[in-house]
Amino acid sequence: MIEQLQQYKEELEKVAVKSAEEVEQLRIKYLGQKGVLKELFGAFKSVPNEQKKEFGKQLNELKNLAQEKILELKSSLSDQGEEARAVNDLTLPGNYKELGARHPISLVRQEIIDIFAGIGFSISEGPEVEDDWHNFTALNFPEEHPARDMQDTFFVENKNGEEDLVLRTHTSSVQVRIMEGGKPPIRTISPGKVFRNEAISARSHCIFHQIEGLYIDKGVSFADLMQTLQYFASEFFGPKAKIRMRPSYFPFTEPSAEVDVWWGLENESDYRITKGTGWLEIMGCGMVDPNVLTNCGIDPNEYSGYAFGMGIERIAMNRYGVDDIRMFFENDIRFLKQFKSAF
Ligand code: PHE
Repeated sequence: MIEQLQQYKEELEKVAVKSAEEVEQLRIKYLGQKGVLKELFGAFKSVPNEQKKEFGKQLNELKNLAQEKILELKSSLSDQGEEARAVNDLTLPGNYKELGARHPISLVRQEIIDIFAGIGFSISEGPEVEDDWHNFTALNFPEEHPARDMQDTFFVENKNGEEDLVLRTHTSSVQVRIMEGGKPPIRTISPGKVFRNEAISARSHCIFHQIEGLYIDKGVSFADLMQTLQYFASEFFGPKAKIRMRPSYFPFTEPSAEVDVWWGLENESDYRITKGTGWLEIMGCGMVDPNVLTNCGIDPNEYSGYAFGMGIERIAMNRYGVDDIRMFFENDIRFLKQFKSAF
């Protein structure tokens, strides 16, 4: 008899159920009118006296175990049931997940890339940590040029004690790498981060993004440069966009120019954005200096080319009416979520 009690206990201990119906069957088997416990309690009388104490103790334990187990199984099933019901209840409020947005700098960069890719420019990249040759010397910067000064350039300590490395101050360094590594015709744009040792303010930051353009082939002229930039401006700013070029100076281009796009001068914000001129300066450009071609192993008697470089932040600020460049770097979610786009 006592052995049988043990078996029932073991069975209860191990029991697993899948449905409320099975729990009910278990309850009937143990606790029902004709159940195991009823029967065992009935048999108590016939247990020999010396075993009664032990049998009674075990029988009570079995009863408690059966009651506990059945309650436990019932509640575990009803938990699951509630969950299932919650999932299926379409009247409950939704679990709202906010959708991320592309960063405004990425949006503008992609738009510019798409325009140039559409007219046959490939996309190239170079390292952010550069050597003096690629960032300055090959680009015809004289030894004493102020841009090499500590004021503008972040120098990187070189553990091998070799020449100084710098954080590139412009994407023009990629021009050099492309020309050194390939044969004309070359038609490429190079987007990337650049670094300048400048005080951070609403108008300037020590990190920003540029897109460089380079086209080298036989017989490339300044007219090609103007036409390409006019095309870019009308694609990016709209078909009525006008551009103008002002003579400028860069060590690596000759002649050099600064490109302005007509913004308009109708209200106070136009005055502020264009400093009262109606024109917006968007990039530097020029014909690649023959010295640069020679430095990069390209014969300037055979080939010519143009280059341009624009700051993405400046263009994004105008596009979205952002008047503080620092907003692009703060990762304030309230700012960033305004730039929804089709992914
Ligand atoms: N690298 C120049 C700058 O950072 C821009 C530029 C690029 C000018 C290519 C001419 C040609 O200001």
